[in-house]
Amino acid sequence: MRQQIVAGNWKMNNDLAQTESLITELKKQTKTSKAEVMVAPTFTNLFRAFDALRTTDIEVIAQNMHFAENGAYTGEISASMLKSVGITTVILGHSERREYFNETDAMLAKKVDAALANAMRVIFCFGEVLNDRKSSNHEQVVESQIKNALFHLEASAFKNIVLAYEPVWAIGTGETASPEQAQDMHAFIRKTLSDTYGKTVAESVSILYGGSVKPNNAQEIFGKPDVDGGLIGGAALNAADFFDIVNAF
Ligand code: PGA
Repeated sequence: MRQQIVAGNWKMNNDLAQTESLITELKKQTKTSKAEVMVAPTFTNLFRAFDALRTTDIEVIAQNMHFAENGAYTGEISASMLKSVGITTVILGHSERREYFNETDAMLAKKVDAALANAMRVIFCFGEVLNDRKSSNHEQVVESQIKNALFHLEASAFKNIVLAYEPVWAIGTGETASPEQAQDMHAFIRKTLSDTYGKTVAESVSILYGGSVKPNNAQEIFGKPDVDGGLIGGAALNAADFFDIVNAF
């Protein structure tokens, strides 16, 4: 059985005090599902969040990292720096990173390599923009995003990879992919994996859906056979809503 995962991406929200109060609220919630739960605060709050949640089963993860180990990269953070404050999972390739910070597939391949070389787990994000979907190019776009950044890896690397399909047109827009659209794409992604790495690998990789997942639609989306969880933005900033989604399995 694949691991079910619900990860909250807090993006550039919450200063230290707000982070602490959200964590206080998260600790009051009860988990009734088997899903693995993760939250991704901003860099400055990672260590405090890690410390505050270390006695819980909520994992604190990072939203991004650089591919170099260290050096003259002003403003950047490396895998070993994240690991030194207890972080062992990182989100890479979020569409906001691709769009606003010009992250390319080639750059993401290097980031994935750096994370894996540091024994970190990667939540690798990808997804098409609205025009790709309107012109029925969405599968082609997603396939090339995955292949360009991940298909140089050995099959064994996929035990540390989680995929997150996030159609860009559904992120923060209130518009979600229909459960059928999500399932169709997730099945396509699994087939793409299977064609190169075989069925065993394809069946073992968790594929999350992201894009306006809310308490009122999570159950239907998570009910689809190839959807193994969600990457949650806006709704993850409210502890009760977030746990409604965690418990939607
Ligand atoms: P959203 O964000 O839930 O606010 O649409 C999802 C994401 O960007 O991961």
